[in-house]
Parts: sequence; C-alpha cells; structure tokens
Amino acid sequence: MTRVLSGVQPSGEMHLGNYLGAFRSWVADQHEHDAFFCVVDLHALTLDYDPAALAERTLVTAACLLAVGLDPETCTLFVQSHVPEHPRLAWLLECTASMGELRRMTQFKDKALRDDGGTESARVGLFTYPVLMAADILLYDADRVPVGDDQRQHLELARDLAIRFNGRHGDTFVVPQAALPAAGARVMDLQEPTRKMSKSVSSPQGTVLVLDPPDVVRRKVRRAVTDTETEVRYDPAAKPGVSNLLDLLAAATGGKPAQLAEGYTTYGALKADVADALVALLEPVQQRYREVADDRGELRRVLAAGAERAHQVAAATYERAAGAAGLLAP
Ligand code: TRP
Repeated sequence: MTRVLSGVQPSGEMHLGNYLGAFRSWVADQHEHDAFFCVVDLHALTLDYDPAALAERTLVTAACLLAVGLDPETCTLFVQSHVPEHPRLAWLLECTASMGELRRMTQFKDKALRDDGGTESARVGLFTYPVLMAADILLYDADRVPVGDDQRQHLELARDLAIRFNGRHGDTFVVPQAALPAAGARVMDLQEPTRKMSKSVSSPQGTVLVLDPPDVVRRKVRRAVTDTETEVRYDPAAKPGVSNLLDLLAAATGGKPAQLAEGYTTYGALKADVADALVALLEPVQQRYREVADDRGELRRVLAAGAERAHQVAAATYERAAGAAGLLAP
C-alpha cells in the first residue's frame, strides 16, 4: 500500500477552497492509502503570529479535518510539534541542503517581501521552512504527497534532498513523487473570481467558510460577482464569476460544469441552486464539527493517539538517517 502524507497550516477555520480543493481528496485518500496528515504548527512560527491563539487554531484545524471526514481509525492525524523527529530530521536535512537551493524557493521570497519586510529581516525559520517540510515528508517514507501548485517547488526540494542524502550516505529515504495531478476543484473568490479563494483577501464576503451558517452562505453566494451579460455559460476565461459558480455547483453535486450550465437561463436561478447545494454540502460537516469541537478531551485523545502512531514510524526513519549520517547511537 502506498504511503500518503500531507500537512496543513493551523490557520483555524477552513474555507470552501481548502475543503473542495484539498481536504476532500485527503478524505478519499485515507481509504486507498496508508495516510498520514499533520497540522504543521511548527511551520506557523515562521511568520508573525499570535502565540495566544496558536494552540486553539491548531485544535480548530484538526476538528475541521475530522468534521469533513478524516477518520482517526483509518488515517493517522497528528500535530507536527508532538512528534519530535520533525525538527530533528530537519537538522540533518539542513546539513544536506545548500544556501543556493533554498534561496531559489519562490515562496520564501514572496512571503519575506510580503510579510516580513524583505529577506534580510525574515526569520531564518522562514528560509529553512522547506527543509522542515522535506523532513515531514521523508520521515514517513511517503511516496505520494498531495499538495497544491504553490507547494510543488518544495516537493521538488524534498526529492532532491532525499536523492542527495541517499547518494552520500546510502539508501535511507523513499524518494517522493515529484508532482501530483490536482485532484480537487479550483475554487475562486466570490468577489474577485480571478483569484483563488483564500482567507487572506481583503473582502471576507468572497470567502465561504465551512462553518458559515446557512444564511451567511446564501448571502455570500447571492452577492457573488458575475458579469454584465445574462447568458449562463461555462467559460472560465471570459466569464470567471459565472464559471466559478458552475464549478462550485459541480463540486457540490457531482455534475459537470458545462453541462450544468445548460439548465439555467438566469444568474439568479443559478445562484439559488449553488446556495442550496452548498448549504446541503456543509450541513453534515457543521453538525460533525459541533460534536468534535464540543468534546475537547476526546479531540486531544485522538491527536495523542495519532502522534503516538506517527512517532513509531518517524522514530524508525530518524534512527536510520542518524545512523547513516554517522551519529553515534545513544
Ligand atoms: N507548506 C505547506 C503549506 O503551506 C504545508 C506543509 C508542511 C506540507 N509540511 C508539509 C504539505 C508536508 C505537504 C507535506 O501548504
């Protein structure tokens, strides 16, 4: 059975773009592979963050993952900082990576410029972030790593580091697949349909949260930006707003966007059906979220059990790597 691993930052509440674009395929993956999913709280320290909110966000993120259908009996769900081999292996890999290859990481440059006043004042952890991510992946002998396009370069680095380490020290790591076809839907912002849906855009009206109550979902869909024509047609380049609504309807109901378009003559009718479909899609998720989030003790137990399972795999890989690198066994 193939091993799958992926990670998510503890950003707290999940939105539809995360859910339909990524986490829904994690839920499917858990039944077909030996799957490990981690909430990467150590990665969250690489930019300015609120220490008082981090633990709660970590729990909410985990609760959202359980709410959308990760089953802790089927997959291993854990918090990165609970498994000490992540930073330990990251060190061995930092001694494998070169300054030049990390400097080429486009996300470092983007994030350092956007959030941290430039590369000179950025945290060193932001610079070495992709190495920690490589450790996340290599610790579990993951061959499949479902990530979005923005993470491909990091995945490529994980491959390069695995190959280089194996070359220097003998076969130690499974080399993960370079890239994956995007399995999920591409969900765009409802107010700015040429941008991906995200929690960081200026207008929260364009982002549907998985935990938004039905009236909020309906309002956001009703106010979604379309265009000045009247024809309902699937054409993402010329009609990004309408096409996004059709994509959402397709993702929620299982149809094909171009075919679904044929059933509509007005934007109003399309919006009404999109709103209904999203409310129906989210209802069971929200119910499950309340169950999971209301029982913090059980949620903590689930994460502790996940960390224990993860630790068993990670510790074996770490020992293998430390031995290969020449460290004296304790
Ligand atoms: N860097 C990823 C992101 O920001 C999160 C991540 C951390 C990850 N470690 C990982 C993803 C390992 C896949 C595998 O989205």
